[in-house]
Amino acid sequence: MSDFYFNIEEYILNHSDKEDSVLAELNRETNLKVLRPRMLSGHLQGKILEMISKMIRPQKILELGTYTGYSAICLAKGLQDKGILHSIEINDELEDLILKYIEKSGVKNKVKLHFGDARTLIPQINEMFDLVFIDADKREYLEYYNIVFDYVKPGGFMLADNVLWSGKVIEMETPDDDYTKGIFEFNDFLKNDDRVEKVILPLRDGLTLIRKK
Ligand SMILES: C[S@@+](CC[C@H](N)C(=O)[O-])C[C@H]1O[C@@H](n2cnc3c(N)ncnc32)[C@H](O)[C@@H]1O
Repeated sequence: MSDFYFNIEEYILNHSDKEDSVLAELNRETNLKVLRPRMLSGHLQGKILEMISKMIRPQKILELGTYTGYSAICLAKGLQDKGILHSIEINDELEDLILKYIEKSGVKNKVKLHFGDARTLIPQINEMFDLVFIDADKREYLEYYNIVFDYVKPGGFMLADNVLWSGKVIEMETPDDDYTKGIFEFNDFLKNDDRVEKVILPLRDGLTLIRKK
């Protein structure tokens, strides 16, 4: 990141709410103990997810890709009183860490964890959602989108993370790796999908906001 963007991000964080202390602890523990800690949403994106959720006030949220639970906790903060967030994670070794912080954050009774492949579990959960956060395997984004589409209420929202893929979407005309290909395919499909409204926020690694018409 250039000095300019580093300083701007620092300024933004200094003039936004501080990272919640439990989330800061989860962030530290993830960095110390878990592989690929850069996958965690982090302070700025986490606060934005929380705000988006608080604006929508969903009854039902679905998250694809829990990792250590950072974004699940942020999104759960916007749920209605009796709302539920279902979060799907393929790596069950993360369960203890996720549960520890979901409990510490006081959202335990609002979060239901599912371990397994999101592509199999979405139809099994079989609920209608107000908000879906797509943040699992980048190679599978289009599959998740096609599977989850029928489980999003009309007027409901989907968010897709990492859609700029570290800028590779503009650096490579023909991507040579499956992750970049997956993001390309997803972005191109979405662009032509008239069933939804969409806009990409240039936040962190790119976050698409999608509204089902
Ligand atoms: C980018 S991380 C999620 C980060 C988390 N949402 C956050 O913001 O802190 C992606 C997660 O998706 C999980 N994952 C990958 N493929 C999956 C699949 N098919 N179904 C469910 N989870 C999957 C990975 O194990 C990983 O923990």
